[in-house]
Amino acid sequence: MSTYHIKHLEEYFHVYRKSVRDAETFWAEIAEEHFLWRKKWQQVLSWDFTKPEVKWFEGAQLNITENCIDRHLTSRPHKTAILFEPNDPKDDAQHITYKQLYERVNKFANVLKERGIKKGDRVCIYLPMIPELAVSVLACARIGAIHSVVFAGFSATALATRINDSSCKMVITSDGSYRGAKTIDLKGIVDEALNECKSVESVLVAQRIHSDITMKDGRDTWLQPLLDAASTICEPEVMDAEDPLFILYTSGSTGQPKGMVHTTAGYMVYAAYTFKNVFQYQEDDVYWCTADIGWITGHSYIVYGPLANGATTVMFEGVPSYPDFGRFWQLVAKHKVNQFYTAPTAIRALAKQGLEVVEPYDLSSLKVLGTVGEPINEEAWHWYNDNIGKKKSPIVDTWWQTETGGIMISPIPFSTPTKPTYATLPMPGIQPALMNENGQEIKGNQVEGRLCIKFPWPSMARTIWGNHQRYKDTYFSAFENKYFTGDGALRDEVGYYRITGRVDDVIIVSGHNLGTAPIEDAINEHPAVAESAIVGFPHDIKGNALYGYVTFKDTGESRDHTNVRTEINQLITERIGPIAKLDKIQFTKGLPKTRSGKIMRRILRKIAHKDTSNLGDTSTLLNPEVVQSIIDNAL
Ligand code: PRX
Repeated sequence: MSTYHIKHLEEYFHVYRKSVRDAETFWAEIAEEHFLWRKKWQQVLSWDFTKPEVKWFEGAQLNITENCIDRHLTSRPHKTAILFEPNDPKDDAQHITYKQLYERVNKFANVLKERGIKKGDRVCIYLPMIPELAVSVLACARIGAIHSVVFAGFSATALATRINDSSCKMVITSDGSYRGAKTIDLKGIVDEALNECKSVESVLVAQRIHSDITMKDGRDTWLQPLLDAASTICEPEVMDAEDPLFILYTSGSTGQPKGMVHTTAGYMVYAAYTFKNVFQYQEDDVYWCTADIGWITGHSYIVYGPLANGATTVMFEGVPSYPDFGRFWQLVAKHKVNQFYTAPTAIRALAKQGLEVVEPYDLSSLKVLGTVGEPINEEAWHWYNDNIGKKKSPIVDTWWQTETGGIMISPIPFSTPTKPTYATLPMPGIQPALMNENGQEIKGNQVEGRLCIKFPWPSMARTIWGNHQRYKDTYFSAFENKYFTGDGALRDEVGYYRITGRVDDVIIVSGHNLGTAPIEDAINEHPAVAESAIVGFPHDIKGNALYGYVTFKDTGESRDHTNVRTEINQLITERIGPIAKLDKIQFTKGLPKTRSGKIMRRILRKIAHKDTSNLGDTSTLLNPEVVQSIIDNAL
């Protein structure tokens, strides 16, 4: 029986029990047998959720790139590590072998060193899905610099906030990016952001779209000539197990994004272990995750998890709709993809296009299908199962978070029987608990509550960059001695988990986590706006869309509402990015508030859901008259 690779349900239960009974031995065995260490740990785990402080493999030394690249040089040097598929289908795919990846990462690492980047420095990476993105991430890890990848769809303001929060010394970007038929001026966005950033000393620019950009003297340098001149040998920095590997920002319920800090050894072990089991990767398989490396899914399941297992991982630059809605399926057929991992929102958007865009392609290579990022509705699940998996590829509905670093609850394909809309069972080492509002654990099956995790796992984020108190308040204060996920969940009669959605002020739109506060802050910057409140409402493709209630400083009657709507969405695009635009904007004379002045979002949510038959307890409302007028004018 193998602990590292689970092959049937009985084995899962056996391994799971072992992981709970003796977590330290369980993880130590996996770490020992499957990874390369410069020095072994003195202690597998120490933890205290009250501080909170968690350490895994303390005393161990390693470099994650030796595990993801160097150790494959003897066993699979000419195997494709990264299969890059460009935006334009007329351009050739690039097969980057492990040996080539080794050379490219080392060259890039040497460039970083020459530009003064040292262990512990923060490097912001703002790149499209081109090989330089994966290479720069690994190059940072090679020299012990902490990468902070910012999704290249974020605006200049959002980028500047993230650069400043962790005082990045360098930004790596490109002259621009392709997105379907469009190009985006990434360098222009970086230039604008850097007007607000004092810590950045240098900018490396990859050439992608060959656009005419301005290079700032003394700050900006083209990347390629530096790479051409660099050596292909760069000794990896020896890192302590708990040295930070990266920072990745996620939305919170207050304005400032949270820079989740992931450390080296535990993250590596858990990302690799879950990749192997959740996707059942076999040596000659081609694995494709359609996420962007700007999100945690890309970090763990495009870069680190697959490469640590010596896998071939596809990196796709384009979008599912270009040149037509058959692109995903065309690529599955072209590259004979075996494992395909995407978001429910993409499935819903593609399902809407009909089977004409699926049928021309041979999808018989597919073995495992995955989803992540939001609950998958039953209809989308069946469409995926029937038309893409042809009922023979199990669907792994994987629940996890930026904060968790790796997949927490998911079926293990060919072992766990799947059930539509259920993420099913916890991964080995993960101990979920459902809690009631009084802070007690709800035991037994067929129950619903707030989802917590009661024991540490190796890849959990260790802190929020520069704000440990916020880390404690957000995740460890709601329920004593437990990590609180912010999600609600139910457990069915056999113990399967179904995630029901966020229970805080975070809304998931097209699989993107959006905090309401920063969006409201952006709207409130409009000179005519007094106040605003954002809630989510169901949307057949995005899962949720955003509904904004906005009040004017004056009566607003004379204003051109269409213009203000456009201006509000423009502000949101500038401050956050187009992903946070509102689908509906209702102008109202007031917002329902409690006597203490808190907006009663519960009521606004019900109105947006067109569910006003029972508004619940409204006795604490300060201004009940406002509610009826909002209902009467609801969109
Ligand atoms: O609400 C859950 C939802 O996405 C949140 C985490 O978002 P983020 O940190 O951006 O990471 C997304 C990729 C891991 C969770 O708190 N979520 C994620 N996966 C699922 C999900 N909701 C339901 N089912 C899922 N499979």
